[in-house]
Amino acid sequence: MNRNIAIDGPSGAGKSTLAKKVAKQFGYIYLDTGAMYRAFGLYCIENGVDFSAADSENQKKLEDLTENFALDVVYENSNQQVYVNGRNVTSLIRTPEVSIAASKVAVVPKVRLKLVEIQRQIAEKSDVVMDGRDIGSYVLPNAAVKVFLTASVEIRAKRRFDELREKGNSEVTYEEVLKDMKFRDANDSSRAFAPLKQAEDAVLLDTSEMTEDESEQALINIIKSKTEM
Ligand code: DC
Repeated sequence: MNRNIAIDGPSGAGKSTLAKKVAKQFGYIYLDTGAMYRAFGLYCIENGVDFSAADSENQKKLEDLTENFALDVVYENSNQQVYVNGRNVTSLIRTPEVSIAASKVAVVPKVRLKLVEIQRQIAEKSDVVMDGRDIGSYVLPNAAVKVFLTASVEIRAKRRFDELREKGNSEVTYEEVLKDMKFRDANDSSRAFAPLKQAEDAVLLDTSEMTEDESEQALINIIKSKTEM
């Protein structure tokens, strides 16, 4: 029986934090698909792609780079780790530079198709809570539960800014984080193939006015209302 849970939404909506928590609560694995786009973005940077160039100039390079890119997603102590050609890159993919690269590589259909295939294989083998941009609308159209998680862009930027500060990044400003977030919102929503959008049968959860605990409870209520859990 399909028991997959799809959680989509823009950057900084809290998808990964909440998805991780509910996966633990229901005994599912959690798949962060953004980490897969980030891993490919990092691989492209390391292979000399200049993401400040026009997207059209980079398209062919990105397509070629998919050929020798082998991605493994494994779980170590229940934590997702991503390996690129045998090297664990998990700790290298959270920088602002890789965030922009991930958003840019995600526009290229050949890149998406390669990663979507891996995502579907994982969902076939295990019950999974999968988060991303196109999970309910494209990757898992038959998911048992689909949630579109969002919050205003200012609140998402503030949450991301606080998180970066907490991690010791004292250089970044709120304005920079807000600008990056607006860029990624526009880029992720406007691409032609599998853009960020709410699936017709997804439940909208706007956490702008909610604490993390309230958001978690609201998400659990939605999951329970859609399944027998
Ligand atoms: O969720 P995240 O911020 O780690 O995702 C990084 C980028 O990857 C994001 O800007 C858009 C892209 N992405 C995507 O296009 N589709 C997904 N399913 C997940 C992420």
